[in-house]
Amino acid sequence: MINAGKMTESHHLLTIKPTKDGSTTLFSKKFDQHYHNPNGAVAESRHVFFETPGVPAALKCQDFITIFETGFGTGMNLLLVLEYLEKTGSPPAVIFNSVEAFPVSPEIAAQFDFGNNTFLNSSRQILSDIFGELQPGLNQFKVSNHLTFNLFAGFFDELFEQNAVSGKADFIFHDPFSPDANPDLWTVEVFKKLASLSKPDTVLSTYCAATSARAAMAAAGWYVARAPGALGKREMTVASLTSDKLVNFKRVSEKRLIERLERGDFRN
Ligand SMILES: C[S@@+](CC[C@H](N)C(=O)[O-])C[C@H]1O[C@@H](n2cnc3c(N)ncnc32)[C@H](O)[C@@H]1O
Repeated sequence: MINAGKMTESHHLLTIKPTKDGSTTLFSKKFDQHYHNPNGAVAESRHVFFETPGVPAALKCQDFITIFETGFGTGMNLLLVLEYLEKTGSPPAVIFNSVEAFPVSPEIAAQFDFGNNTFLNSSRQILSDIFGELQPGLNQFKVSNHLTFNLFAGFFDELFEQNAVSGKADFIFHDPFSPDANPDLWTVEVFKKLASLSKPDTVLSTYCAATSARAAMAAAGWYVARAPGALGKREMTVASLTSDKLVNFKRVSEKRLIERLERGDFRN
């Protein structure tokens, strides 16, 4: 079991970095990666996890929505859910489930800046409070009347070993750094675990467009499609267990990707 607070300084070595839309992100020395696109943290998250998979439309027409996120990081996606709920006439009840092995300290969270987004800036204290109260394992926070947040402070695999996720997700935000930096979270096994949290029409989205990642999704039973990427990136990826959910996107050939995976094309 990890010590949620102490992991940050000793293992993760984080620095705050500005991005081009005025919002900040973090840079992790451990993973040698930015948490978001340096061209715009807020803009990228909106595009990849909300607008492309259709979260705003679902918020308008469903009574109840569950989201699962791999990698809570700065917590920006939680605040974006809160912002989208504020803008929705009769908002549904939302459960936001996330997992984070290396939570940031409340002091770092207090320094996040969301650029010209006054709603996110005024909600920043929510993140400092969450990071301040976090205990190893499963934590639950009632963020608003409509938003319940469950954060598992620990590793992705532990979440499943401890059977700590309840309910099936409508949307999966797969955001655990790139396959090169964090290959353990881009395997067939991981996408099978994500499938076990999913409904037939769940949409999984990720900024990643790597063929090896798409092949792992396909081998785990996901239908996979390309979508236009955010902020200068050519492509991102969306996936679902139902092919009909991907009619607005350009499908890849799952069969061919699985053949390539089985042939060992993606082994280092
Ligand atoms: C790209 S960042 C997430 C960005 C985040 N969604 C945000 O909006 O700030 C990836 C996150 O995944 C976490 N992570 C990496 N490997 C993990 C693992 N095996 N289990 C749980 N969290 C992990 C990292 O600590 C990091 O916070």
